[in-house]
Amino acid sequence: MNARTIYEQIGGHEKIKELVDAFYNRVAKHPDLAPIFPDDLSETARKQTQFLTQFFGGPPLYMEEHGHPMLRRRHLDFPITPTRKDAWVSCMEAAIDQVDIAEPYRSVILERLTLTAQHMMNTPDDQQ
Ligand code: HEM
Repeated sequence: MNARTIYEQIGGHEKIKELVDAFYNRVAKHPDLAPIFPDDLSETARKQTQFLTQFFGGPPLYMEEHGHPMLRRRHLDFPITPTRKDAWVSCMEAAIDQVDIAEPYRSVILERLTLTAQHMMNTPDDQQ
């Protein structure tokens, strides 16, 4: 990889938007995830587009509107079990493939998002 950001390498704003749309279409249909998300995912998708833009080296859009991400804290209202973490990662993996993000970016993105998802777990499976 050269010095350009992952954000630029994969196609910038258009690609992140495509990825986020593909991801939330899957979340909306996933039996483990849909119940904890709002019915209308448009605002969630807008924030996630801002977040992933900055996470992968693009402009700090999320920070500009919402301040420091504090992602773990922002997820504490939702019971995020190991099962839901796996579901989130599998929706993201399928979305990455659907929008054709090529290697090496595919693996780098998936690895960073998987690590972040692990950090978001806050509830054991038997206490949800
Ligand atoms: C918001 C679930 C992992 C980024 C949310 C919301 C839920 C949720 C229920 C609130 C939706 C709303 O009310 O609009 C989950 C689950 C995860 C997970 C089950 C599994 C581990 C992640 C990861 C990231 C992320 C890995 C980042 C890479 C965000 C962002 C928001 C959000 C940016 C919006 C926060 C805000 O309100 O400003 N998530 N999430 N989430 N999630 Fe996750």
